[in-house]
Amino acid sequence: MATKKPIPLAVWLPLGLVATVISLIGSLVVYSLLNPPAPPTVNFVGIITVRGQTITPKQLGQGRQLYELHCAVCHGLKLEGQPNWQEGMAANLLLAPALDQNSPSRQYSDEQILQLISQGGIKPNTTMLGYKDKLTPTEMAALLGYIKTHWK
Ligand code: HEC
Repeated sequence: MATKKPIPLAVWLPLGLVATVISLIGSLVVYSLLNPPAPPTVNFVGIITVRGQTITPKQLGQGRQLYELHCAVCHGLKLEGQPNWQEGMAANLLLAPALDQNSPSRQYSDEQILQLISQGGIKPNTTMLGYKDKLTPTEMAALLGYIKTHWK
């Protein structure tokens, strides 16, 4: 009759370690599923409207998220535009202009800016493509609301 050999330490120790690591990763995954990261907040006191509709703080947070995802690559994380965009625009170099308090867009109506976001840039060879297939009208309004928080 064969007697069962006890499992040697050299086998169960690494197995135990692997099991510990797997359960740690598992609990981290469960934790992050139960606690999704909070949407970004926007430091702004006051009321922002787009087409006469008030944009809620939650929408401003969404607008910020959308801005950072789609627009910051060209217009800058702080909406500052590409370096020397004024001279660049004048020379038709297609540099992305500022969207902050120095933005030429401040003279446009909400309707005109939403149209621009939806259809793309206005220059003939513009690098800015329209977002009508990527963003819903509500998302575009949130995005414009976030941009307007920079227009003090
Ligand atoms: C690939 C680079 C690029 C991306 C990405 C981009 N833009 Fe632009 N944008 C430009 C350039 C270049 C111009 C200026 C030329 C033009 O209007 O065609 C411009 C112009 C604009 C203008 C008009 C500014 C003015 O006063 O004439 C607005 C408003 C604007 N962009 C908003 C946005 C928003 C909002 C997003 C994100 C949803 C975005 N852009 C994404 C490059 C970009």
